[in-house]
Amino acid sequence: MRRMGHQVMGFLERDDARMIVRLAMRQRPEGDMLEVGALYGRSAILLGYLLRQGESLIVCDPFESHLRGGLWPGLSRTAFEENYLRYHKQLPDVRQCRSSEISVVPGSMSLIHLDGDHLLDAAQADVDRAIPWLAKGGLLVVNDFDLDARGLAEVARSTTKVAYRV
Ligand SMILES: C[S@@+](CC[C@H](N)C(=O)[O-])C[C@H]1O[C@@H](n2cnc3c(N)ncnc32)[C@H](O)[C@@H]1O
Repeated sequence: MRRMGHQVMGFLERDDARMIVRLAMRQRPEGDMLEVGALYGRSAILLGYLLRQGESLIVCDPFESHLRGGLWPGLSRTAFEENYLRYHKQLPDVRQCRSSEISVVPGSMSLIHLDGDHLLDAAQADVDRAIPWLAKGGLLVVNDFDLDARGLAEVARSTTKVAYRV
């Protein structure tokens, strides 16, 4: 994600971004979107561009830079919000917490992007929570499908009826 010389650090790859956009444009039903695991905002900014009139984007992340041994320097809610506002006029609905602490209206989400805790138990819990939140025809996008040997990818593979491969 790059604008006016500014680049947002993150893990969303160009091909994955293209695939998400293509899928969403083709078959995303009406409804809000949710992202678990926003980091500095790269994928959330992309999702923000997919919002239609009257829809909201909920973003869930504890924004704690010390998670995973300080792997994410300078990570904070403020850093995320500043990045997001470089690309969009309005902030999304930011929930600064772990995914286990949020709840949304069942059947209301047109797209859920899971990119939070990649360890097996947490990932399984995220997928289990997400499925009932999806609207009919809603998209569950699970990041790092190919990269992780275990955890999030494993959960995605065992739930192929709902997870699209991106
Ligand atoms: C791989 S990064 C996300 C990358 C981001 N989607 C991007 O486009 O660059 C993982 C993020 O998940 C967040 N995270 C870790 N555990 C979480 C949890 N239990 N609930 C929600 N977010 C979590 C971390 O704070 C981190 O920001």
